[in-house]
Amino acid sequence: MSRILITSALPYINGIKHLGNLAGSMLPADVFARFQRAQGRDTLFICATDEHGTPAELAAAAAGQDVADYCAEQHQLQKDIALRFGLSFDWFGRSSSHQNRDLTQHFASVLEGQGLIEERVDQMIYSLADKRFLPDRYVEGTCPKCAFEKARGDQCDNCGSLLDPTDLINPYSTISGSRDIEVRDTRHLYLLQSKMQDRLRTWIDGRKDWPQLAKSIANKHLDEGLIDRGITRDLVWGVPVAKDGVARPGFENKVFYVWFDAPVEYIAATQEWADATGGDWKGWWRTDAGADDVRYVEFMGKDNVAFHTVSFPATLLGSGEPWKLVDQLKAFNWLNWYGGKFSTSNRRGVFMDAALDLLPPDLWRWYLIANAPEGSDTAFTWEQFQSAVNRDLADVLGNFVNRILKFNETKMDGTVPDGGEPGELEIALLASVQEKIAALTDNLEALEYRKAAQDLRALWVAGNEYLQVAAPWTAIKTDRDRAAVVVRTAINLVALYARLSAPFIPFSAAIIAEAVGEAGVTAWPSASDATLLDSLPRGRSVKAPEVLFRKIEDDQVAAWTEQFAGVEA
Ligand code: 2FM
Ligand code: ZN
Repeated sequence: MSRILITSALPYINGIKHLGNLAGSMLPADVFARFQRAQGRDTLFICATDEHGTPAELAAAAAGQDVADYCAEQHQLQKDIALRFGLSFDWFGRSSSHQNRDLTQHFASVLEGQGLIEERVDQMIYSLADKRFLPDRYVEGTCPKCAFEKARGDQCDNCGSLLDPTDLINPYSTISGSRDIEVRDTRHLYLLQSKMQDRLRTWIDGRKDWPQLAKSIANKHLDEGLIDRGITRDLVWGVPVAKDGVARPGFENKVFYVWFDAPVEYIAATQEWADATGGDWKGWWRTDAGADDVRYVEFMGKDNVAFHTVSFPATLLGSGEPWKLVDQLKAFNWLNWYGGKFSTSNRRGVFMDAALDLLPPDLWRWYLIANAPEGSDTAFTWEQFQSAVNRDLADVLGNFVNRILKFNETKMDGTVPDGGEPGELEIALLASVQEKIAALTDNLEALEYRKAAQDLRALWVAGNEYLQVAAPWTAIKTDRDRAAVVVRTAINLVALYARLSAPFIPFSAAIIAEAVGEAGVTAWPSASDATLLDSLPRGRSVKAPEVLFRKIEDDQVAAWTEQFAGVEA
């Protein structure tokens, strides 16, 4: 498969995301996209803001803004921050786009044509004070499972139970606080997932290379038996329940549920990209238009897996149309802030904007990938972060690059030296570098981020060890040719590091590449290339960059620990 389609779970529009959101989907997706492009594969990397549902409406109300204006503003903020983090989306769309409205309505209509949607009468909470129904987060009350008093209509944040608004004990409106509430009948559309059980099972059984976490979550839902899901809500903001611009009778004040339209935006965002660039969206998404040779990889946090392995595939398969389905799905556990959760309201943890105000993006990127929450939940600590920056980036990579290039400037003539022949040390180094590049390539291809980061670090360490043993500062006193070989080999390693590190730390990699005259050279090296350590033209001027990575001091750690600890709720 030569073409790679990559989607990252769509960040909710309600405010700047924290480092956990970045680590669990957008950043690993970006590393993969950069790696695939470096291998010369035709790659399309799509993301968007997830703009519908009660979180958007509530956040807009809290900000005192009209919801459409709020979304437009927040979208731009998230887009700017993503760019500053080096997230190389080919398109960063908006689920409120007209493309998504049309496509969501299209899916509802073809699913209905396939007998997979029906109208049902539901019991919903109605607020007399607010004169409206209270779906999902518009209602809070006491959790029937754990007695937590601020459980939301869709979920209890204390015990994690998924709830229905009518389950809550003593419910009240989050709009007015009123408890003047009654249960009323309301009509909704249901997606008959129960009818899709066998087709989904067959499809999932065929997904041989899905990681364990994804497969077990999907199978758990299938084993419990798929239930029919309400896919509309009594809300104003969202995709209207209409077909060809005509409202469905009885549904004039209803919209599709945010989890119905959000994944459709993966496709609609590709249409947005095509409309803006002249690209061919069908070639990526329709198997009748060439998408058969696309490898489609999705990235998300573990709470999103059920929606991507069951609900969204049910929409695509159920449509009876030839849509491209996911090939590989990489799910992440949580990145926590010390023992607990990140929290906007309690100012707990670092959010993406604050992170960039403190330090350059590559430092965060490296830490978050090297400590990716793959096997289990992981906790951010400043001490671990400091160690990743100081030991890996400053002491190992930064030190190597600066040491050899400075030496070359002061003791040689500042160019890639000529003369001498590689000896045993260089032959052994080449073998070791080739082996490590092969491992790094395999692990990136297999979406094993921690292992890949270890492979990359091992490559940087190998350079330092080589310099230590080859000691050009000693050789130069007696044997200039020998010094030339060592310096040349090490400068070639610098160029190699720039290419191999670029998916992880693109900004620093660009500075390193520039230092050795390789700006813009991003092609992924082949592990079997025998010229890996001797491919730069001899005589080319090279120059040590300014300090690549500034170390994090203990007093900074102390100050930040306090600053981001959060206030008690
Ligand atoms: O959990 C979330 O953050 C959702 N906004 C993810 C949506 S992913 C996709 F399906 F749209
Ligand atoms: Zn609970």
